[in-house]
Amino acid sequence: MCGIVGYIGSGDAVPVLIEGLQRLEYRGYDSAGIAVAGRSGLKVHKRAGRVDDLVATLPKRHRGGVGIGHTRWATHGEPTDVNAHPHLDASGHVAVAHNGIVENAAELRAKLAAEGIDLVSDTDTEVIAQLVGIRAADMALEDAVREALSMIVGTYGLAVIDDRRPDRLVVARNGSPVVLGVGRGAHHVASDVAALVRHTDQVVHLDDHELAVLHADSYRTFTLDARPTDKQPATTEVTATAFDLAGHDDYMHKEIHEQPTTVARTLSGRLDRRFATAHLGGLDLSARDLLGVRRVKILGCGSAYYAGLAGALLVEGLSRIPADAETASEFRYRNPVIDADTLYVAVSQSGETFDTLAAVQEIKRKGGDVIGVVNAPGSTIAGECGSGVYIHAGPEVSVASTKSFTSTVVAFALLALHLGRVRDLGPGDGTRLIDGLDALPGAIDEVLRAEDAIATVAREVIAPAASAFFIGRVRGYAVALEGAQKLKEVSYIHAEAYPAAELKHGPLALVGPEVPTVVVVPDDHLLDKNLASVEEIRARRGLVIAVTDAPAGALGEGGTTGPGGDGRFAAVLRVPRTEPELAPVLLGVPLQLLAHHAALALGRDIDRPRNLAKSVTVE
Ligand code: G6P
Repeated sequence: MCGIVGYIGSGDAVPVLIEGLQRLEYRGYDSAGIAVAGRSGLKVHKRAGRVDDLVATLPKRHRGGVGIGHTRWATHGEPTDVNAHPHLDASGHVAVAHNGIVENAAELRAKLAAEGIDLVSDTDTEVIAQLVGIRAADMALEDAVREALSMIVGTYGLAVIDDRRPDRLVVARNGSPVVLGVGRGAHHVASDVAALVRHTDQVVHLDDHELAVLHADSYRTFTLDARPTDKQPATTEVTATAFDLAGHDDYMHKEIHEQPTTVARTLSGRLDRRFATAHLGGLDLSARDLLGVRRVKILGCGSAYYAGLAGALLVEGLSRIPADAETASEFRYRNPVIDADTLYVAVSQSGETFDTLAAVQEIKRKGGDVIGVVNAPGSTIAGECGSGVYIHAGPEVSVASTKSFTSTVVAFALLALHLGRVRDLGPGDGTRLIDGLDALPGAIDEVLRAEDAIATVAREVIAPAASAFFIGRVRGYAVALEGAQKLKEVSYIHAEAYPAAELKHGPLALVGPEVPTVVVVPDDHLLDKNLASVEEIRARRGLVIAVTDAPAGALGEGGTTGPGGDGRFAAVLRVPRTEPELAPVLLGVPLQLLAHHAALALGRDIDRPRNLAKSVTVE
C-alpha cells in the first residue's frame, strides 16, 4: 500500500525514481510524486493520477543527486495534487515520502497549528514533514527524523531528504517495508526489491524500529534510539526478468500463463515418494508436535482467505483434523480464544497485509503457534511466523492474484498430505495424491490451451452482463468465491458467490436471462445436487456456464454448448480430471481467464483495477 523509492549517488536521481515508481505502481496508483535536491535546492513534482501522468508533466530541468518518490493509495485525504507525496515542511527544505498511517495525526496537527504551523494538505504524512522540519535546522537530519518519530503513533516506511544536506537520505521503518539497495557509487531505497533489481542484487531489509542513513558511497543502520545495528547486504534471488511482461499485454495474463511453472516450483523437492508424504523443510514442527494438533485455523484476507478456505477442506479431508478459515480482520477483533492445541496458519501472498500481520501478533501474544503460508520471502509475516511454507510463485505484479492463489492451494495440499500421513492417511492415498500433484502443471497447461474458447464465453456471455452469480458446493464453493472476486476486481461487473444450495434462499430472486450464473461442478458425489441447482436457474431462464472436470456428457450438456446455444448450458468449460481433493486447483484457472477476458472486452485497466492496491499495509 503506497510505494516509496529513494536514490543518492553520482548520477541524476530523476530517471531512477521514475523507473522505481513504475515498478511499485501496483502498491497504489491514485497519485505520484518525486522530490529531488541538487544545486538549485529542492524540486518537487507531484500529481493526482498515474506515474505516466507525472512523467508527462515533469519539467525538463528537474535534476538532483538525491531524491525520493512515492506512489499513493489514499488513506487520509482524497487523491489530489496537494495530497500527493512527497510532503514538505513549512520551510520548504525537508521532503518526506511515507507509507503507513500516523494514528495520532489529528492530535499532532492541532499541536502544530497551535505553534503557528499551517498544514496545506489533508494527509497524516505532512505532520511528519513538519515535525522533522522544525528540528532539521539545528541538528543532523537523522536525529531530527528520530525525534519526530518518537512523537508518532502508527506505522511507517519513511524516506526523508533535506536540500541543506544533499549528502544524505534518511529512511526508517515501522510496519511498512523498507529495503536498501547497495549499488556502485550509489544507494537506493524502495518498499520492495522490485524497484531495486535493475540496479543491484545487494539488498538490506530494514527491521521494524530501524533507521538508515544513506550516502552515495556508504550507509549506516541504527535502532530508533541510535544504537548501530551493522546490517550487511545479502544477495536477493529476485531477478529483473521477473518484472518483464515477456510478450504478454498485461501482468495478469502473464501470471495466469506462468502457473504450470509456478505450481511446479511450489512442488519442487517436496514430494517424498518413499514415505508417500510431503516434505516441508520450512515447517519447524516435528511429527510429535503435529500429532498434538487438534484443530487448524487458517487466516488471510481477500484471495488469500479464499485459498485458505480451499486449504481448510484439504486439511480436514486428508488429515481428519477439524479445519476452517476466517478473514484475519474479523478474527483479530473478536477477542478470539487461542488454543494451545490449534495450529494457526497465516496466508499471505505479499507477507505484508496489515490485518493478517495483526492476527499473527494477536495469536503469538496469547501464546498460540502460528505458521505462515507466504509467497514473498523475507516478508514481515514470514518473519513474524518464523516457520511455515513458502509457496515460491515468484513476484506477483498484477493486483488481481492468480498464480499465488493457485500455488497457495497447492501448498495447502502439501501441508494436508504431510499432516494426513502423520495421522490416518494410508500410503496408498499418499501416493495417489503425489501422482495427482505431480500431474498438475501439465493439467494446468491443458486448461490454458483452451483459452480462446473461454475468451469467447467471457466476451459473449459475461462481458454484456451487469451482474453474475458464482455458485458451488464444498470444494466448488471455495472456487466460486475466488471466481467472483476475480471478475468483480478486474471487470467491475458485480459478481457474488453463493453455496449452490443457498441460491434458493434469496439470490434466486435476481436470476433471469440478464444474469449469468457460473456453476462450479467438481466430478464428485455432489454432481447431481449441482445439476439440480442448474435446473432451478434454468427454470428462471437464467444462463448457466458450467466449469467442471466431469467427463463430456456427464452434465447432460448433450453437445449444445457454446454461446448462444439453446441447450442446458450457455457453455461448459472443461478441465482435466485430477484427484478429487485437488480439483479446486484446476477449476479455478478457467475462472481467472473468464475474468481476464471479460475485463479485456470491457477495456479495463486489468493490472490496476480502480480503488484497489496489491499490498494492503493499512487496516
Ligand atoms: C489485496 C489484494 C488482493 C489480496 C489481498 C491479500 O486486497 O488486492 O489480491 O488477495 O490484498 O493480500 P496478501 O498479500 O496478504 O495475500
